[in-house]
Amino acid sequence: MSQFEINILFDVKGKIVLITGGTRGIGLMMARGFVANGAKVYISSRTASVCQEVSRELSEIGFCKAIQADLSSKEGRLALLDQFRACESRLDVLINNAGAAWGATIQEHSEEAYDKVMDLNLKAMFFLSRDLIPVLSNNTVGDPSRIINIGSIDGMVVPGHDNPIYSISKVAVHQLTKILAAKISGLGITVNAIAPGPFESKMTAFMLTKAQREIELANPLKRIGIPEDMAGIALFLSSKAASYINGVVIPVDGGLHLKSYQFI
Ligand SMILES: NC(=O)c1ccc[n+]([C@@H]2O[C@H](COP(=O)([O-])OP(=O)(O)OC[C@H]3O[C@@H](n4cnc5c(N)ncnc54)[C@H](OP(=O)(O)O)[C@@H]3O)[C@@H](O)[C@H]2O)c1
Repeated sequence: MSQFEINILFDVKGKIVLITGGTRGIGLMMARGFVANGAKVYISSRTASVCQEVSRELSEIGFCKAIQADLSSKEGRLALLDQFRACESRLDVLINNAGAAWGATIQEHSEEAYDKVMDLNLKAMFFLSRDLIPVLSNNTVGDPSRIINIGSIDGMVVPGHDNPIYSISKVAVHQLTKILAAKISGLGITVNAIAPGPFESKMTAFMLTKAQREIELANPLKRIGIPEDMAGIALFLSSKAASYINGVVIPVDGGLHLKSYQFI
């Protein structure tokens, strides 16, 4: 078989993938894509019952194990690390996806909400990545391990809607991605970010209920994202085909980041 064949270039079979917040929304879209293509997938969230339910459902297609952990605290992150390391001694793909938003004007924003957003969106991402470097380190030059951070197009533009700390956290996620790529890639790890536009999820339910049609019309492709869009980019970034892509932030938004937008 030639190394240019699609089955080799885009294969993720057998790769060990950890997706934080993999129980619903964007994380679940990616988890389904990896499980369907033969990866060994670990998902995490705070809610034990949902973890069990989703891992049971995905286990009907392939390998999926759920780990319950609250990543907004150090104890929670350490619990995730302990449970993951009890199962695996290596990690091929870390997807830092768990995130939270907080709609408020600057004048109304509380310190508690600031901490909630920053602790999960940025602090958890930084320290989880730091602590997983030893198991991610990979000497395979042709197929390094991957860190994929989920940013947002709200970190690429100043969004019109009131979600300021979320937007600031996503700018930081994009910069963290570049800094990690520059500093740790020598260990055999590439680091990239996906910056989604609107996709259906619990996080976007309020906005989509109020303005889905408007959001679709504002988009150059006249639609919101669908699960295949998210699974596709995550699979690509995890495959051999993306081995030489490092330190980039890829908008997956139908081109919405090119326009100024305000939906609610
Ligand atoms: N949907 C979009 O349109 C969109 C656009 C741009 C960027 N994003 C980004 O995509 C990522 C996923 O968003 P989503 O829309 O899929 O959100 P979502 O539906 O709210 O899902 C968030 C996931 O993270 C988990 N989670 C939340 N808080 C957690 C915590 N403290 N510790 C561990 N897990 C936690 C949730 O499970 P539990 O609640 O059970 O813990 C859930 O599995 C986020 O980083 C978000 O900023 C989303």
